[in-house]
Amino acid sequence: EKDLGADLADVLIPEDALQEKIRELAAQVDADYAGRDLLLVGVLKGAVMVMADLARALSSPVSMDWMAVSSYGSGTTSSGVVRILKDLDTDIMGRDVLIVEDIVDSGLTLSWLVSNLRSRKPASLEICALLRKPEAVKAELDVRYIGFDIPNEFVIGYGLDYAEKYRNLPFVGTLAPHVYGGGGS
Ligand code: PRP
Ligand code: MN
Ligand code: MG
Repeated sequence: EKDLGADLADVLIPEDALQEKIRELAAQVDADYAGRDLLLVGVLKGAVMVMADLARALSSPVSMDWMAVSSYGSGTTSSGVVRILKDLDTDIMGRDVLIVEDIVDSGLTLSWLVSNLRSRKPASLEICALLRKPEAVKAELDVRYIGFDIPNEFVIGYGLDYAEKYRNLPFVGTLAPHVYGGGGS
Protein backbone atom coordinates (compact mmCIF):
# COMPACT_ATOMS: atom_id res chain seq x y z
CA GLU A 1 0.00 0.00 0.00
CA LYS A 2 1.01 3.55 -0.73
CA ASP A 3 1.86 5.58 2.35
CA LEU A 4 0.15 8.97 2.32
CA GLY A 5 2.67 10.24 4.83
CA ALA A 6 5.48 9.87 2.33
CA ASP A 7 3.86 12.48 0.07
CA LEU A 8 3.55 15.03 2.88
CA ALA A 9 6.09 17.73 3.58
CA ASP A 10 4.42 18.85 6.78
CA VAL A 11 1.19 18.89 8.73
CA LEU A 12 0.04 22.51 8.59
CA ILE A 13 -3.21 22.24 10.58
CA PRO A 14 -3.79 19.11 12.64
CA GLU A 15 -7.17 17.43 12.85
CA ASP A 16 -7.98 18.64 16.38
CA ALA A 17 -7.23 22.27 15.49
CA LEU A 18 -9.44 21.99 12.40
CA GLN A 19 -12.31 20.57 14.38
CA GLU A 20 -11.98 23.16 17.12
CA LYS A 21 -12.07 25.95 14.53
CA ILE A 22 -15.10 24.40 12.85
CA ARG A 23 -16.92 24.44 16.20
CA GLU A 24 -16.04 28.14 16.67
CA LEU A 25 -17.29 29.01 13.18
CA ALA A 26 -20.47 27.03 13.75
CA ALA A 27 -21.16 28.90 17.00
CA GLN A 28 -20.84 32.22 15.15
CA VAL A 29 -23.12 31.04 12.35
CA ASP A 30 -25.66 29.76 14.87
CA ALA A 31 -25.70 33.12 16.62
CA ASP A 32 -25.83 35.22 13.45
CA TYR A 33 -28.62 33.24 11.80
CA ALA A 34 -30.71 32.50 14.88
CA GLY A 35 -34.37 32.18 13.91
CA ARG A 36 -33.62 32.33 10.20
CA ASP A 37 -33.82 29.71 7.51
CA LEU A 38 -30.25 29.25 6.34
CA LEU A 39 -29.14 27.64 3.09
CA LEU A 40 -25.56 26.40 3.03
CA VAL A 41 -24.08 26.27 -0.47
CA GLY A 42 -21.06 24.02 -0.66
CA VAL A 43 -18.63 24.37 -3.54
CA LEU A 44 -17.72 20.95 -4.90
CA LYS A 45 -15.45 19.26 -4.53
CA GLY A 46 -13.07 20.96 -2.13
CA ALA A 47 -15.72 22.05 0.36
CA VAL A 48 -17.13 18.61 1.11
CA MET A 49 -15.28 18.10 4.38
CA VAL A 50 -15.80 21.57 5.83
CA MET A 51 -19.44 21.51 4.73
CA ALA A 52 -20.08 18.14 6.36
CA ASP A 53 -18.36 19.07 9.62
CA LEU A 54 -19.69 22.64 9.81
CA ALA A 55 -23.26 21.49 9.16
CA ARG A 56 -23.01 18.85 11.88
CA ALA A 57 -21.62 21.39 14.33
CA LEU A 58 -24.61 23.71 13.86
CA SER A 59 -27.39 23.45 16.41
CA SER A 60 -30.23 24.63 14.18
CA PRO A 61 -31.60 22.86 11.10
CA VAL A 62 -30.29 24.19 7.78
CA SER A 63 -30.70 23.32 4.13
CA MET A 64 -27.73 22.26 2.05
CA ASP A 65 -27.16 22.59 -1.66
CA TRP A 66 -24.12 22.22 -3.88
CA MET A 67 -22.51 23.87 -6.83
CA ALA A 68 -19.67 22.44 -8.80
CA VAL A 69 -17.52 25.01 -10.50
CA SER A 70 -14.20 24.63 -12.12
CA SER A 71 -11.57 27.07 -13.15
CA TYR A 72 -9.97 26.13 -16.43
CA GLY A 73 -6.45 24.89 -16.18
CA SER A 74 -5.07 22.25 -13.89
CA GLY A 75 -2.20 21.66 -11.59
CA THR A 76 -1.43 24.13 -8.85
CA THR A 77 -2.78 27.47 -10.15
CA SER A 78 -6.17 29.02 -10.93
CA SER A 79 -6.89 30.73 -14.24
CA GLY A 80 -9.90 32.80 -13.17
CA VAL A 81 -12.13 31.51 -15.93
CA VAL A 82 -14.93 29.70 -14.14
CA ARG A 83 -17.62 27.44 -15.52
CA ILE A 84 -20.56 25.76 -13.82
CA LEU A 85 -20.30 21.98 -13.84
CA LYS A 86 -23.34 21.55 -11.59
CA ASP A 87 -25.76 24.31 -10.67
CA LEU A 88 -27.86 24.64 -7.52
CA ASP A 89 -31.10 22.68 -7.27
CA THR A 90 -32.50 25.50 -5.13
CA ASP A 91 -33.97 28.85 -6.20
CA ILE A 92 -32.13 31.19 -3.82
CA MET A 93 -34.26 34.29 -4.44
CA GLY A 94 -35.13 35.71 -1.03
CA ARG A 95 -33.06 33.11 0.83
CA ASP A 96 -30.31 33.59 3.40
CA VAL A 97 -27.34 31.96 1.70
CA LEU A 98 -23.95 31.08 3.14
CA ILE A 99 -21.32 29.90 0.67
CA VAL A 100 -19.02 27.29 2.20
CA GLU A 101 -15.54 26.96 0.72
CA ASP A 102 -12.36 25.16 1.65
CA ILE A 103 -9.92 27.83 0.52
CA VAL A 104 -9.61 31.32 -0.91
CA ASP A 105 -6.43 31.33 -2.95
CA SER A 106 -6.51 33.99 -5.69
CA GLY A 107 -10.14 34.62 -4.77
CA LEU A 108 -11.19 34.31 -8.40
CA THR A 109 -13.55 31.39 -7.82
CA LEU A 110 -15.41 33.13 -5.01
CA SER A 111 -15.47 36.52 -6.74
CA TRP A 112 -17.13 34.90 -9.69
CA LEU A 113 -19.48 32.86 -7.52
CA VAL A 114 -20.57 35.84 -5.41
CA SER A 115 -21.50 37.88 -8.46
CA ASN A 116 -23.25 34.90 -10.02
CA LEU A 117 -25.29 34.13 -6.89
CA ARG A 118 -25.98 37.80 -6.12
CA SER A 119 -27.67 38.14 -9.52
CA ARG A 120 -30.22 35.55 -8.30
CA LYS A 121 -31.38 38.01 -5.60
CA PRO A 122 -30.84 36.15 -2.31
CA ALA A 123 -31.98 37.98 0.85
CA SER A 124 -28.40 37.74 2.10
CA LEU A 125 -25.17 36.24 0.83
CA GLU A 126 -22.10 35.57 2.97
CA ILE A 127 -18.97 33.47 2.72
CA CYS A 128 -17.42 30.95 5.09
CA ALA A 129 -13.96 29.77 4.06
CA LEU A 130 -11.78 27.49 6.11
CA LEU A 131 -8.48 28.68 4.65
CA ARG A 132 -7.23 31.87 3.06
CA LYS A 133 -3.94 32.49 1.27
CA PRO A 134 -2.15 35.88 1.09
CA GLU A 135 -3.07 36.36 -2.61
CA ALA A 136 -6.73 36.63 -1.61
CA VAL A 137 -6.33 40.25 -0.45
CA LYS A 138 -6.23 41.35 -4.10
CA ALA A 139 -9.72 40.00 -4.70
CA GLU A 140 -11.18 42.28 -2.01
CA LEU A 141 -13.66 39.62 -0.98
CA ASP A 142 -15.74 40.14 2.11
CA VAL A 143 -15.32 36.78 3.85
CA ARG A 144 -17.58 36.86 6.91
CA TYR A 145 -16.31 33.60 8.45
CA ILE A 146 -12.65 32.66 8.08
CA GLY A 147 -10.88 29.72 9.66
CA PHE A 148 -7.16 30.18 9.13
CA ASP A 149 -4.90 32.54 7.22
CA ILE A 150 -2.14 30.35 5.83
CA PRO A 151 1.13 30.96 4.01
CA ASN A 152 1.41 30.69 0.25
CA GLU A 153 2.20 26.98 0.11
CA PHE A 154 0.52 24.19 -1.81
CA VAL A 155 -1.88 22.63 0.67
CA ILE A 156 -3.72 19.32 0.53
CA GLY A 157 -6.14 17.38 2.67
CA TYR A 158 -9.53 17.97 4.31
CA GLY A 159 -11.10 18.38 0.87
CA LEU A 160 -8.12 19.97 -0.86
CA ASP A 161 -6.57 17.99 -3.67
CA TYR A 162 -3.52 17.74 -5.77
CA ALA A 163 -4.50 16.12 -9.09
CA GLU A 164 -7.71 14.86 -7.39
CA LYS A 165 -5.85 13.04 -4.63
CA TYR A 166 -5.34 13.62 -0.89
CA ARG A 167 -8.82 15.10 -0.28
CA ASN A 168 -9.42 12.36 2.27
CA LEU A 169 -6.70 13.40 4.69
CA PRO A 170 -8.35 14.48 7.98
CA PHE A 171 -5.85 17.33 8.39
CA VAL A 172 -4.33 20.03 6.17
CA GLY A 173 -0.79 19.39 5.04
CA THR A 174 1.76 20.60 2.57
CA LEU A 175 2.78 18.46 -0.36
CA ALA A 176 6.29 17.10 -0.59
CA PRO A 177 8.11 18.63 -3.60
CA HIS A 178 8.89 15.22 -5.11
CA VAL A 179 5.13 14.65 -5.69
CA TYR A 180 4.67 17.65 -7.99
CA GLY A 181 8.10 17.60 -9.52
CA GLY A 182 9.56 20.30 -7.36
CA GLY A 183 12.93 18.61 -7.26
CA GLY A 184 14.54 16.43 -4.63
CA SER A 185 13.33 12.89 -4.20
C1 PRP B 1 -9.99 25.05 -5.48
C2 PRP B 1 -10.53 25.33 -4.10
C3 PRP B 1 -11.33 26.59 -4.32
C4 PRP B 1 -10.53 27.32 -5.39
C5 PRP B 1 -9.70 28.40 -4.79
O1 PRP B 1 -11.00 24.42 -6.25
O2 PRP B 1 -11.36 24.26 -3.66
O3 PRP B 1 -12.62 26.28 -4.77
O4 PRP B 1 -9.66 26.34 -6.01
O5 PRP B 1 -8.87 29.00 -5.76
P1 PRP B 1 -9.02 30.52 -6.21
O6 PRP B 1 -9.33 31.34 -4.98
O7 PRP B 1 -7.67 30.84 -6.77
O8 PRP B 1 -10.11 30.60 -7.21
P2 PRP B 1 -10.69 23.70 -7.63
O9 PRP B 1 -11.02 24.64 -8.74
O10 PRP B 1 -9.33 23.11 -7.60
O11 PRP B 1 -11.77 22.53 -7.67
P3 PRP B 1 -12.01 21.40 -6.53
O12 PRP B 1 -12.69 22.09 -5.39
O13 PRP B 1 -12.88 20.40 -7.19
O14 PRP B 1 -10.67 20.86 -6.15
MN1 MN C 1 -12.93 24.11 -4.99
MG1 MG D 1 -8.80 21.43 -6.78
